[in-house]
Amino acid sequence: MLRGRSAPGHGTRTAAPPPAGRAARGPGGVRNQVERRTIGAGALSVGSVGLGCMPMNWGYTTSQQNGESSLRAVHAALDRGCTVLDTADMYGPFTNELLVGRVLKERRADAFVSTKCGLLVGEQHIVANGRPGYVKRACDASLRRLQTEVIDLYQLHRADPEVPVEETWGAMAELVSAGKVRALGLCAVGARAPRRPEWRGQRARRRERGGTGAHGAAEAPGMHDATLRQLERVQQVFPVSAVEAELSVWSREALAALLPWCEARGVGFLAAMPLGNGFLSGTLTPGQGFEPDDLRARHPRFTAEMMAANQPIVAGLRRVAARHGATPAQVALAWVLARGRHVVALPGTKREAWAVENAGAAELRLTERDLAEIAELPAARGSWED
Ligand SMILES: NC(=O)c1ccc[n+]([C@@H]2O[C@H](COP(=O)([O-])OP(=O)(O)OC[C@H]3O[C@@H](n4cnc5c(N)ncnc54)[C@H](OP(=O)(O)O)[C@@H]3O)[C@@H](O)[C@H]2O)c1
Repeated sequence: MLRGRSAPGHGTRTAAPPPAGRAARGPGGVRNQVERRTIGAGALSVGSVGLGCMPMNWGYTTSQQNGESSLRAVHAALDRGCTVLDTADMYGPFTNELLVGRVLKERRADAFVSTKCGLLVGEQHIVANGRPGYVKRACDASLRRLQTEVIDLYQLHRADPEVPVEETWGAMAELVSAGKVRALGLCAVGARAPRRPEWRGQRARRRERGGTGAHGAAEAPGMHDATLRQLERVQQVFPVSAVEAELSVWSREALAALLPWCEARGVGFLAAMPLGNGFLSGTLTPGQGFEPDDLRARHPRFTAEMMAANQPIVAGLRRVAARHGATPAQVALAWVLARGRHVVALPGTKREAWAVENAGAAELRLTERDLAEIAELPAARGSWED
């Protein structure tokens, strides 16, 4: 039985001697179970499973957000070697960095903090700001909120269409020279950004070319074109250490070009939304409904109809999980980790039990049979184009 399977926080398996590269015990006395991976030009060493901190303050089940319980989730993740704490100034806005800062103040050495700049949250909308002066002020503000002297990975959340990305990236590179930031990352242009005219046009053109594939992989040429162009441009200014983009069993578009681009250059790939916004865990019920400010309330895959239509995907994960004494969430994360040694999974949660369960995925090795079965699962139904 995998750790975190049935008794979160109380692993039942006898601790084997840790392989090289793993610390014997976390500060909480829990054995670090997450293998370490080395990513990026600066050879950054991080746990293969990290912690997406966004749900603690943004996007999911707002009524259940609770600072103290979120803090326990962060500590549980760090105790198990999930070193990457992924946040952004816009999550909250600002409150998620403040929360992460409370942990960093106590145990900076255990964490690898990734935060992002470039998106401003207004009353009714979110806008990009990539002006160099703004980026530098944003970094100083993030450092204060995070209660740290240096950010391990500073990511550009979205490029500003009104500022050449080289200018924004140049300002971020100056933050590295100033010792405020260790490495730079770029988030993919929202592959599922809803209702953006240029995005709809791009998808429509691909449809006209007849490109649709089982999991989006075959249709993916084009999906990340804008991101790849940005990556080529910013690489001329300062090395990219990591790319953060959606990747999961039901969203495989990054496999076509983005993941290979990163692998070929030794750039780390941080897999966002690896649990399909929670769907792949099998804990959500079709028609259950979502709070109005939950991003899934407007997400086309989370209508009652599409959640029901996509149940065969969860059923497939359950079948694999049953063979390993694991959970569907752990199988979904293990699938992401099996995409390459440069990949780090960033499951998001605000709950200690799920942070523990997700860390346990690092110990799950999927077999060829498992991977073949997952490859044959039906493509996800429900799209922003519908
Ligand atoms: N760069 C970008 O543009 C971008 C975009 C989106 C996300 N991200 C990053 O990627 C991280 C991960 O993405 P995400 O959080 O949106 O999606 P996700 O990890 O696919 O799913 C998060 C959802 O799954 C639930 N969950 C987590 N572990 C679970 C488990 N073991 N069993 C059942 N349910 C579980 C969470 O519930 P609770 O909320 O109740 O804990 C939350 O509702 C984010 O936190 C954020 O740091 C980046």
